[in-house]
Amino acid sequence: MQPNFSGINVPKTPELLSDFEQFKKQLKKHTGLDLEHYKFDQTYRRIYTMMERAGFKRFTDYLQFLCQDESRMRAFVDRLAINVSEMFRNPEQYEILRTQILPTLLKQSPQLKVWSAGCSYGAEAYSLAILLHELAPGRSHQIIGTDIDQEVLERAKQGVFDESDLRSVPAEFKARYLFPIQENGRTRYQAEPQLKRYLRFERHNLLADPYPQGFDLIACRNVVIYFSDEAKDRIFREFFRALKPGGYLFVGNTERIFNSIQIGFANPSTFFYLKPLQEGSSWRNAS
Ligand SMILES: C[S@@+](CC[C@H](N)C(=O)[O-])C[C@H]1O[C@@H](n2cnc3c(N)ncnc32)[C@H](O)[C@@H]1O
Repeated sequence: MQPNFSGINVPKTPELLSDFEQFKKQLKKHTGLDLEHYKFDQTYRRIYTMMERAGFKRFTDYLQFLCQDESRMRAFVDRLAINVSEMFRNPEQYEILRTQILPTLLKQSPQLKVWSAGCSYGAEAYSLAILLHELAPGRSHQIIGTDIDQEVLERAKQGVFDESDLRSVPAEFKARYLFPIQENGRTRYQAEPQLKRYLRFERHNLLADPYPQGFDLIACRNVVIYFSDEAKDRIFREFFRALKPGGYLFVGNTERIFNSIQIGFANPSTFFYLKPLQEGSSWRNAS
């Protein structure tokens, strides 16, 4: 019987490991994507599985195959990035955002500058736009959605979502902001056009590009889980710098920042990290 290499145990011979190192170097040269920042075992396993499915036994042969066709290479990078998302993902955290964090921020500044970092096809950015429009309509809020994957950003600009993206959207928001349309015989949902005036989508690689600055709120959720501890640490420090004093970082369900105090954050509730208004002044009540 053939061993199943697509599961947890993929082979790691010295030859394969050294071939994988070559693959990483060449991939970085061709695409700028530096796999050194990603968790090794997980990345190795996923690329091994993709390579095996494409019928190759050596990573460097697989790379040559990827390099022959630009769209094939793009699809490979996109699959590595994993774009799973949905609107109001973990709704209990959006409730804290709606009732505590955003009202606090709106007292500090009438219009907010928000970054949805690793926004995938925009479900998170549109959810934030809905909340801001609910709480403080008609102001010039700016929500910047960024991702490494250009293809998902094009989808984000369309603002059309599937039924499965909407399962955590509160009913009254769904009725007000998401309108059913028919597309190839299935029902999809178009976001209310006036939300788009708050939104902008741009490519940004969290591991390589300079960080934009001056945010009241940064949401970076379910993105850094794939990164090494060093890369995560660098990213959280960059986010700290990118926030205004009094601003918040909003992270995903499994992404506690264990050295948050060292970085300078106060941590008023599990998924929200505050950059204090003044250095040294820590906890502010948000939970
Ligand atoms: C699982 S999705 C998270 C989407 C959304 N934040 C959410 O929580 O629903 C992860 C996103 O991170 C993006 N990503 C992965 N590596 C990245 C990088 N180095 N820079 C920017 N975005 C990245 C992926 O392309 C993907 O769209």
